[in-house]
Amino acid sequence: MTYNLLKGKKGIIFGALNEKSIAWRIALKAHDEGANFTLTNLPSSIRLGETENLCKITNSSLIPADTTNINDLENLLNNSMEILGGKIDFILHSVAMSYNVRKNRDYDDVDYDFFTKTIDISALSFHKLLQSAKKLDAINEWGSVVALSYIASKRTLHGYNDMADAKALLESIARSFGYIYGKEKKVRVNTVSQSPTKTTAGSGVKGIQGLLDFTERMSPLGNASADECADFCITLFSDLTRKITMQNIYHDGGFSSMGMSLKAMTQYNKCLDEEE
Ligand SMILES: NC(=O)c1ccc[n+]([C@@H]2O[C@H](COP(=O)([O-])OP(=O)(O)OC[C@H]3O[C@@H](n4cnc5c(N)ncnc54)[C@H](O)[C@@H]3O)[C@@H](O)[C@H]2O)c1
Repeated sequence: MTYNLLKGKKGIIFGALNEKSIAWRIALKAHDEGANFTLTNLPSSIRLGETENLCKITNSSLIPADTTNINDLENLLNNSMEILGGKIDFILHSVAMSYNVRKNRDYDDVDYDFFTKTIDISALSFHKLLQSAKKLDAINEWGSVVALSYIASKRTLHGYNDMADAKALLESIARSFGYIYGKEKKVRVNTVSQSPTKTTAGSGVKGIQGLLDFTERMSPLGNASADECADFCITLFSDLTRKITMQNIYHDGGFSSMGMSLKAMTQYNKCLDEEE
């Protein structure tokens, strides 16, 4: 069912690599809800992934950009305003990458060049995007900027590595920049903390299968899918949520408020029985 929630709105969507990407699902919903937007991704991801197909499906233009590069971001913002015919109403930042995770460098043996890249790509890029947009006055009043986060920003999850630090910084940037952007331009800035989801980046998380099973058993509503995340992000881009800003909002079926559930306890007890 569609509601035309984004009718007439102009956006920029980062990070749709393939149809599993959370950004891909959000782009499809934004299109269904009447938005016009540009898509962007890293040139190497565009070559390896399927972003160009999504452009055809959603009738959108593709503007390559490395989120860590200010010139790329300014070019993206300027070109998007030209193509879409005016200032932007919503931006999705759905970008993360850790070479330490990729190269199996544990958190107590990280490579610091990799660590710096993790922070730059996965968190600082959000600040660069917001600062560039504000300097260019690229976002309309009551516009909405959303980045995707994960609960490892606040709680330690085995193997999440330096991405946990990146997510903590990402959420902090949403608060700090959200204050300034809200006060001066009435632009909203939020992060959505999503359940573990089987995407290309998600599959890189250590023990993802066990993690998905654990969070599914722990969450009273079950894990949130990428499509459900898309539904939620559409509401944040819409005019229905105009006074929500500087928040990190959990979209995780209730997981973040749980300590122990009956389903998880039952499974855990089975393992204890096996040990006896
Ligand atoms: N999958 C999960 O379990 C999960 C859970 C919570 C939050 N998230 C977050 O959701 C977001 C999207 O991840 P996903 O799970 O859809 O995976 P994904 O692999 O589909 O998306 C990650 C995207 O980041 C892009 N990217 C990497 N480096 C870039 C750079 N320098 N410049 C521009 N783009 C770059 C990739 O090309 C890719 O499109 C990430 O921020 C991730 O941390 C994912």
